[in-house]
Parts: sequence; C-alpha cells; structure tokens
Amino acid sequence: MASAAQFGTASSLRDFGAAIFERLGLPAPHAVLVADCLVRANLRGLDSHGVARIPIYAKRLRLGLVNPRPTLVVRQVAQSAASLDGEDGMGMVVGTKAMDVAIGLARDTGVGFVGVHRSTHYGMAAYYVLRAAAADHIGFAFTNSSPGMAPFGGTKPILGVNPLAVGVPAGRRPAIVIDMAMSEIARGKMRLAAMHGEPIAEGLGVDKEGKPTRDGMAVFGGGAVHPFGGPKGSALAIWMEIMGGVLTGAAFAGEMKSLYEDLSGPQRIGHVFMAIRPDLFMPLEEFKRRMDTMIERLKDSHPVEGLDEVLMPGEPEARRETERMRTGIPLTAEVLGSLRAEAEAVALAMPEFSPTPISGCA
Ligand SMILES: NC(=O)c1ccc[n+]([C@@H]2O[C@H](COP(=O)([O-])OP(=O)(O)OC[C@H]3O[C@@H](n4cnc5c(N)ncnc54)[C@H](O)[C@@H]3O)[C@@H](O)[C@H]2O)c1
Repeated sequence: MASAAQFGTASSLRDFGAAIFERLGLPAPHAVLVADCLVRANLRGLDSHGVARIPIYAKRLRLGLVNPRPTLVVRQVAQSAASLDGEDGMGMVVGTKAMDVAIGLARDTGVGFVGVHRSTHYGMAAYYVLRAAAADHIGFAFTNSSPGMAPFGGTKPILGVNPLAVGVPAGRRPAIVIDMAMSEIARGKMRLAAMHGEPIAEGLGVDKEGKPTRDGMAVFGGGAVHPFGGPKGSALAIWMEIMGGVLTGAAFAGEMKSLYEDLSGPQRIGHVFMAIRPDLFMPLEEFKRRMDTMIERLKDSHPVEGLDEVLMPGEPEARRETERMRTGIPLTAEVLGSLRAEAEAVALAMPEFSPTPISGCA
C-alpha cells in the first residue's frame, strides 16, 4: 500500500462519512451504519473497503443507481427463512437488516436464513458475521459480486470474486472470523500494482483476449482474474453465485453491473445471511469452552520456520483493529484528495487529520 499521508481517528472518520451520506439523502441511522461499516474495514486493515469507497458510493447515489431510502420489507417464507428485497439500497443497510432478521429467526427457531435480492455492493463481508458473533450466534454471509473472475478452465469474467464470511463466537478467545474472496489476488490490488507501474506475478489472470498477462490493468479492465486453488476456489465461487444469485432471485453469472465500470443501472447483487444458535446441541458456555480448546490446540501447533505464531482466521484483522483504535487510521494522499472533493461537493468541513500516528485515540 502507498504510505500514509495523514491519520484520522475512527470516530472523526465515522462522523465525517455519516454526514456525507446523510447529505446524499440517507436517513441518519442508515448514514451512520454505512460509515461504521467502512471505518470498521479501515480499522481492520482492509483499506480497499474503507472510506476510500465513499466517492464511488456517492457517485452511484447521485446518479440514482442506489436508492437512499429503501423500505426493506421482510417476507417470511418459512419458519426459519425470510426473503428481503433490497430495493437497490446501500448494501450495508440491506445486509445489516438481513443479518439482524436472520439472528432474530435463529433466536426463535434455532436457525435463521435470509435471502436478499436487488442489493448493491456491501463492502467488507466480515462486518455482518462480526454482528452475529457479537450476538452469540454463528453467522454466515454469502454474496455474489460483479463479474471479474473466470471459472476454472475459462477465460471470460463471468463470476465475481464472491467473498464468503463466517463468524463464530468463542469464550476467552476472540471470535473466529473467516472472510475471503475467491480470487487468487484481489482485483483492487492488481489495479494498484498497475497504477504504480509494477507487473503482477505470473499466472494470476488473463487479458480480455484470454491471454495470460502480468499487466494488472489488463486483468482489471476487461480481463479475468483466476480463482485461488484452481478448481477448488472456482467451486466455492460457483457456490456463492448459486446462493447469492440463483437462489435469491438476484442477478447472477455475469448479469450484475460493475460497481466502478458500469453506471448503466443498479447492480442487482444478491446475498444470503445465516445465523445459527450455538446452544442447539449443548449449553452456550460449553460451546464457547470447546471453541477455546480448539483454538488453543491449533495455536499450539508449532509455527513453521520464519513465523512466530500460528494465527486464527480474523486474528490479524482483530489485532490491527486494536492497534488502529490507538494510532488512528492511515490515509493516503490519494484517498485524502478524493475525500476532500466529496466534502466540497456536499459543503462539509473536513475533519482534522494528523501527520503522524495518533497516540491513545479512539
Ligand atoms: N463486497 C464484495 O463484493 C467484496 C468482493 C471482494 C472482496 N471483498 C472483501 O475484501 C476483503 C479482503 O478479502 P481477501 O480475500 O483479500 O482477504 P485476505 O486474503 O486478506 O484474508 C482471507 C482470510 O485469511 C485470514 N488470514 C489472513 N492472513 C492470515 C494469517 N497470517 N494467519 C491466519 N489467517 C489469516 C483472514 O483473517 C481472512 O479470514 C474481505 O473483507 C472481503 O469481504 C468484498
């Protein structure tokens, strides 16, 4: 990542983001929620899914491609299942509502399953499963996403990178949080490499003629990234396409509009959220103790040479969150410039930023 030009506190960035989205027409609680999701991504070190995305979301809102005020009516389709029409609302608002409905269904019936159609890009998938884990539920978030990846053996970008997320509460230990896209490398990282004039490694993607290339921009702009793990990553991405797209009634297999590159209509993304009550088979405390035992045994599995420690999924991000709560969130000059332009567009003052890491902020 390019080096940080300045540092902002989580709370000031949250307030700033919320004020922008409110001025773009979102009701105040929804504006706060969207900003919280973006800042949480920054805190966890996923700067590609943080406040740097404000300009593209703002652009789609201004163009009327995102509905700032969806009504989000829940249609219960079975005792444990519901369907939600996202009405082209902000993915974070739609996704949070759907996860909360899934948790509510799980409280009543043991498991909750919510299918969402007509949604939009929902950012960092971990946000939703962290919510489930904080409510002492096992949470799943499945989504499809705009085309950019070829299925194993193919060269056309029919699939999205379709991230999958799972959150599981533990006892003394932090929750396990799995959040992973199905591509060998994030598409954003390819774009970034190209912008810095650096070639990408061999075998990561093809250009729009289907030829292997090391030019990240050729992969990003019309080419296709490869799934991780060959046919296995491809299979998981197809599973996300089925759950998020085919099953819910959302767009699927290449029909979604790209967040950045296709401003011809709403994205029509689909998601599935699931929540499971961990006390279905034993008391909650016993489940959590068993999670701690499992985590401790795994962490005790002697690290390979060169590593100090075996980390659990979600652990690197949780550590970064603790650190950035203390030091602030680093922002590159490019991101700062784009935020300044957004602030001017809605006549808002920029928050104070610091040229060095901030000590003891929150
Ligand atoms: N909304 C969308 O359409 C969309 C699309 C693509 C990606 N994303 C988001 O982009 C983000 C990045 O995805 P990614 O696939 O690049 O994630 P990643 O490769 O950084 O991490 C994948 C998983 O590996 C774990 N991990 C990483 N390093 C580890 C280590 N040293 N030890 C143990 N576990 C480790 C992480 O905790 C995570 O669970 C995610 O938040 C994802 O939801 C969103």
